[in-house]
Amino acid sequence: MAISVRSFAKINIGLCIGPLRDDGYHELRTLYQTIALHDTVRVDVGRGVGIEIACKDPRVPCDETNTCYRMADRVLRAFKLRNKVRITIEKELPVQGGLGAASSNAVATMLALEKGLKHQLAPLERLQLAAEVGSDLPLFLVGGTVLGTGRGELVYPLEDLPGLPCVIAMPEVGVSTPSAFAEWDTRNGKLTPQESSDRMNVFSHAIFEWLCGRKFSPTGVPSKGWDRAEALLLDLVRTGIGNDFESVVFPKHPALREVKRALERSGAKYVSLSGSGSAVYGLFADKEPAAKAAKSLMDNGVMAKATVTLPRAKYWEEALKNSR
Ligand code: C5P
Repeated sequence: MAISVRSFAKINIGLCIGPLRDDGYHELRTLYQTIALHDTVRVDVGRGVGIEIACKDPRVPCDETNTCYRMADRVLRAFKLRNKVRITIEKELPVQGGLGAASSNAVATMLALEKGLKHQLAPLERLQLAAEVGSDLPLFLVGGTVLGTGRGELVYPLEDLPGLPCVIAMPEVGVSTPSAFAEWDTRNGKLTPQESSDRMNVFSHAIFEWLCGRKFSPTGVPSKGWDRAEALLLDLVRTGIGNDFESVVFPKHPALREVKRALERSGAKYVSLSGSGSAVYGLFADKEPAAKAAKSLMDNGVMAKATVTLPRAKYWEEALKNSR
């Protein structure tokens, strides 16, 4: 029986790159937010052995380097099962777009395969397997608004932001994440580990202040309740939270900076590169200017879609809608 899972994308609302660690990864802090754009992953479990991947998009590898293959292999091993697993990926999201598509595809594979095999991993085991396949996977086991720490794989569900209109611009540029990190190191080699770690603390406090509506203090449990979208987004701009990757990716791909400017001119309240790009998103207070902004980008030859951010409950409801 084939099981379909919607594999949603994410954006990063702020991303701070910290020191290079001994394991070759960078410490980082980011706020992940799932959005309503998605691929669809279909998993078919049958008799026999072997994992097969099918995808019409020629940019997606269909061999054992595919994140879905790596996930399926791990899930079968975890259950000590041998089956034939056929995975079909229907792509809507860009490849190397900074929207976490390959990571999300792998998590969708895990969820579909659990159903297909009628076995379930424990929640912590799921997170662990996901983190083994990539730093950006565990967030998709949480969904909604998620704090990411460590190399991005340590995830904490936060109180959901309200659904916000947003436009995702997807220029036809692929940005390699390892290369973007390497470029960051080249440009920021002078930062001491202490300076690097201080930057992350400033970033974390800014996130706290935005989400909790008051200055960071180590005591007390904050609860804010959300303002109107516009006030929320203006507060976000005031924090100065940004994505460190912009400083290395924009100089290499100036067209992406132009897309950011175009979104700002179209009335987006907050605009940023997502992950290491190349997707650039704008958050809007209302749907109408978002739809207009997407159309205007398309008229200028830039692929763009108007969508909304996806809170946690909706994320899970929509992801598993066709899997029952
Ligand atoms: O974890 P993932 O496989 O997605 O990472 C791909 C590459 O990106 C890593 O091999 C590493 O070079 C780089 N990376 C990093 N620091 C992170 C996450 C990824 O340097 N926090």
